[in-house]
This record gives sequence, C-alpha cells and structure tokens, in this order.
Amino acid sequence: MKIGVLTGGGDCPGLNAVIRGIVRRGVSEYGHEFIGFRDGWRGPVENDFRPLTIESVRGILPRGGTILGSSRTNPVEMDGGVDRIRENLKAAGIVGLIAIGGEDTLGVALEMNRSGVPVIGVPKTIDNDLGATDYTFGFDTAVNIAMEAIDRLHTTAESHHRVLIVEVMGRHAGWIAFHAGLAGGANVILIPEQEFDLDRVCEYIERRFKDQYSPIVVVSEGAKPIGGFDSGRQVPADAFGHERLGGVAHWLEGEIERRTGKEARATVLGHVQRGGTPTAFDRVLATRFGLHAIEAADQGHWGKMTALRSTRIELVELADAVAELKTVPPELYQEAEVFFG
Ligand code: F6P
Repeated sequence: MKIGVLTGGGDCPGLNAVIRGIVRRGVSEYGHEFIGFRDGWRGPVENDFRPLTIESVRGILPRGGTILGSSRTNPVEMDGGVDRIRENLKAAGIVGLIAIGGEDTLGVALEMNRSGVPVIGVPKTIDNDLGATDYTFGFDTAVNIAMEAIDRLHTTAESHHRVLIVEVMGRHAGWIAFHAGLAGGANVILIPEQEFDLDRVCEYIERRFKDQYSPIVVVSEGAKPIGGFDSGRQVPADAFGHERLGGVAHWLEGEIERRTGKEARATVLGHVQRGGTPTAFDRVLATRFGLHAIEAADQGHWGKMTALRSTRIELVELADAVAELKTVPPELYQEAEVFFG
C-alpha cells in the first residue's frame, strides 16, 4: 500500500532516523510505497510531496533537521483544509499517514483520524512534554547540548566572578532546564511549572558567592517570577496560538545585578538546542519509533501513537497522547533543590 509521511512543528534531532526506519522496514519487509509530504501539514494541504525510497533515505541517520522540512501549518483552522487533505490523499491513492510531531502536529493527526483520514502518530519534541510516552526523541540531544554549555559557562563564570544565566527551551515544561541543570551542576533551576521568588534566587546567588564560587542559573524560556514580568516582546502568535517566548534571562540579568550588585550575564541557547546530530539515545529511540510505526500501519492500527514505556515500544491512543502535557512534578523538582545556592 501507499503511505504518506510528514514531519511537523519545531524540528528536532532524530526526525530523519524515524523516516529512515519507516522506509527501510516498510519497503524491505512489507513491500509498501512511501510519499514524503513537505513541510508538515502544508504538504498534504497543497499536495507537495516527493517519493521516499530506500536510496533517498541512505545516509540520513546522523543528520539533524528533517529531509522533509517542517512547518506549523494548521489545516484544522484553515477553511476546507481537512477536506483538501482527504481529497489529495485519495487522488494519490494514499491509504494513510504517519505524522511525526509534537502536541500540535499530533493534535491535528487526531482530528484527521476522527474525520476519516487514517493517521499513526510518532512523538517528537526536544521539550519531552508529551503524555503517554516516557521520552520523546530530541530531548536527550537538547539536554546534552545545554549541559555542555553549562559546563563551559562554569569556568568563565569563575574567572570573572559573574552570575551566568542560561536560558533554555521549554514553553510549558521545564524538562530541559531540570535535566541540563542537574547534570551541569547549576546553582538555581527555574522552570515554568513553578513561579519563582526573585528574592530567593538572589539569596541563592549571594550564598554561592560567599563560598567563593560563581553561580549558574538555568532558566526555561517559559519560567516566570511571581507576579510575572514584561519581556518587552511583541511577536504575533503562530498558527497554533503559541506566543514566541524568550527574554526571561535578560530580564533576570538586570534584576540580579540591581539587587545583588554582582555582574550578571545572560546566554540564550535558542535553536542551537534543536540543531545538529542526534545522540546515540535519540538515534536508537527514533529508529525504533519508525520501525514500530510502519508495523502499526501495516497492521491497520490507525489512530495510535508509538510510545516508549520503560524499554518497550508500545502503541497508545493518539487521544491519550495529546490529552495532557507532561510537566515536571513538584517532588522531582524538590530533589534538585538541595543543590541550590
Ligand atoms: O516545541 C519545541 C520548541 O523548541 C519549544 O521549546 C520552543 O518554545 C519552540 O519550539 C520554538 O519554536 P520556533 O522554532 O517556531 O520559534
């Protein structure tokens, strides 16, 4: 049968490994044919695709990004978007889609499946905030990139007796900040799940300087102080209604200097966390998701998503995967607090 593949939302390392896994197994074991839609849901809406063959997926395993391109196109909000996809798939003889994405792309996948377009989901996001799977691929790579940055910032912070603040990605969930901060020996970790008390943060910083060490503060882009703050940014929201975040590290820089009298500097890691080659963990997880996604399609398990449960890959309902965001539980965050200050 003919199956379409697409990658949507923010890219992340490991997307190509999934595509390769799907195509390699799908062609050699099941004899299926593959179409790769370009730029997420834009591809099936505008009928923009390329054939995916074993030859075309050779050599892509270690490559970051996605050979198919990505976008935040939302066909559910478009006039006639879902119908156009249905018609385009029918005309091309495509039986179903494998959609690789995060909460937004998989939310659309669920809607499509409900409206009669068979879809199987594969969870990806560096944020690791999807429910129903223990981990998403891309997260381990992002954490390692952030950890390495923190390691480097420690030495320059010590040389200059500065407070260095590292802003990492994480809109609603602080998984990257929590893991990278813990692995990198941060002195304060601030996450979106818990509004932070700036006085407390400054106390930690002063305590750290008393021990002759320079503090590193790791902050998620979505973290907020009690009472909020003005980032001064005014960028229109994307097609899924998400505002563009960023600015909390620079805001902290000013506040910490003013309150403690210590020089503070912000480093915003941004898209560096999403680029480049995936770690071994992400390559293996992404490959296994791909192999299981095509098996699920072959067996007609539409409406499901591949999920990591302990060390096994299982199939879960797409609806369960997007029902609730997975955030950092308070008791886990508390485990890191012993290292604060
Ligand atoms: O969802 C992944 C993510 O990297 C978030 O951590 C971040 O807020 C967002 O995407 C940034 O998206 P964009 O690259 O579209 O600015």
